[in-house]
Amino acid sequence: MIQMTEIDRHLMIVLGGTGDLMRRKILPALHRLSDEGPLQGKFVILAAGRRKTFDDESYREWSRDALDDAGITVEAEVSNWCEKCLHYQSVGDQETEDFERLMRRLEEVEEEHDLPGNRVFYLATPPGAFIETAERLGEVGLDQGPGWTRIVVEKPFGHDFESARELNRRIHAHFDEDQIYRIDHYLGKETVQNLLTFRFANTLFDSVWNRDRISSVQITVSEEIGVEERAEFYDSVGALRDMVQNHLTQLLTLTAMEPPAEFEADPIRDEKVKVLRCLAPLDRNLLVRGQYVNGEIDGEKVPGYREEEGVASDSDTETFAALRVYVQNWRWQGVPFVLRTGKRMSSKLSQIVINFRCPSLAIFQRHGEATINANSLILTLQPNEGFDIEFEVKRPGDALRLETESLHFRYEEAFLELPDAYETLLMDIAEGDQTLFVRADEVEEAWRTYTSMLEDPPLLYPYEPGTNGPGEAERILVPRGEACPL
Ligand code: BG6
Repeated sequence: MIQMTEIDRHLMIVLGGTGDLMRRKILPALHRLSDEGPLQGKFVILAAGRRKTFDDESYREWSRDALDDAGITVEAEVSNWCEKCLHYQSVGDQETEDFERLMRRLEEVEEEHDLPGNRVFYLATPPGAFIETAERLGEVGLDQGPGWTRIVVEKPFGHDFESARELNRRIHAHFDEDQIYRIDHYLGKETVQNLLTFRFANTLFDSVWNRDRISSVQITVSEEIGVEERAEFYDSVGALRDMVQNHLTQLLTLTAMEPPAEFEADPIRDEKVKVLRCLAPLDRNLLVRGQYVNGEIDGEKVPGYREEEGVASDSDTETFAALRVYVQNWRWQGVPFVLRTGKRMSSKLSQIVINFRCPSLAIFQRHGEATINANSLILTLQPNEGFDIEFEVKRPGDALRLETESLHFRYEEAFLELPDAYETLLMDIAEGDQTLFVRADEVEEAWRTYTSMLEDPPLLYPYEPGTNGPGEAERILVPRGEACPL
């Protein structure tokens, strides 16, 4: 997050190196960083996968295709990059011998490129393979190397409190917490990181960020897409596990946390954990779950969730969730935080809306025509990243009529381009900065919060695609810029 250190040359070993995540996200980001980017010449990649038929050459071919699909024009330079930076080693059936072979191969690659023995092991494997992979690495002695060793784990970190604790325990048997980088890609988004600067570098907001001034907070992450090719996986997960427990809860902690003692990884993560510890037990009546049915989006027919390939025809998995949570501490007691997410909604939007309390209205009381709305601050994380402040102005003319207007800030007008979340996170891993990675206790606390809802979920309501979810959710949501009674 803060670039200060000289970056050590290292080997990036991607386990699951022929998978979808590598193809769509990691490889394009690694390419952008190293091909004339800030990590040029800093690392070499050794992809490891189950495919036994691949070798360096065929892997480079696979990678050229992947980069092409990601919109990176594959000309001579990209081909050179693939030749220079990419190697492949099969880990076949993931037996100990396969990892011994991996160890020998990585030492060869390090020698060939004259690398000093710093290693990143990126587990881009299906979640079911995390523990086994970490244990195999430990068994063959790859948990420590001649230089530093870091391990990267992608979400989901477990599927409930117990499994998250078990995952942490088994990984900790080989790797120390300061070697572990748990990725929640929302933390890599520039606008999400900016939440802290926005809050703590601006007196204007700092002084009103509390229960005296704020009446409610609503955090929305909606998507237009359905479950796409991940239906089978998604059906065992649902919106609470896939989005709420991680991405939305991260946004909640960054919005609600106290200022850290220092702008460093652990002080920041300490404050985030404290927010999670202050969450009141969830109220079942304050959660609405929904599932999309078939219908039309922009004139095109789309299948209902239960008709998606790989989904059971009587599936009870939610594709939408809206819930109210309360942070029971000195700053936030009594302020509802609404978390809402869903697939096949009307638009793709990630937004935090801070609703302020009504002003004192005594002086306007004799002017019955005036209607007043409370102020709100809208932080849009994607798309059209920026901030809006909605406030009241007097409409020109004799009568006292007020109107809500807004002040805008848009990133794209102020800065040219926002970096991709994966590039930011890969940079931080190379630098050894854990600020944007989720610590073990954060993961466990977040799961603990949702356990009761996961074990005994409330009713599921159907909703039409292209809408804002089931009507039932209205009772959970809070209005933006509430009308203040005169
Ligand atoms: C992933 C979820 O973590 O985030 C997906 O598993 C979801 O279901 C995705 O589509 C959303 O990410 P973004 O960056 O597109 O908002």
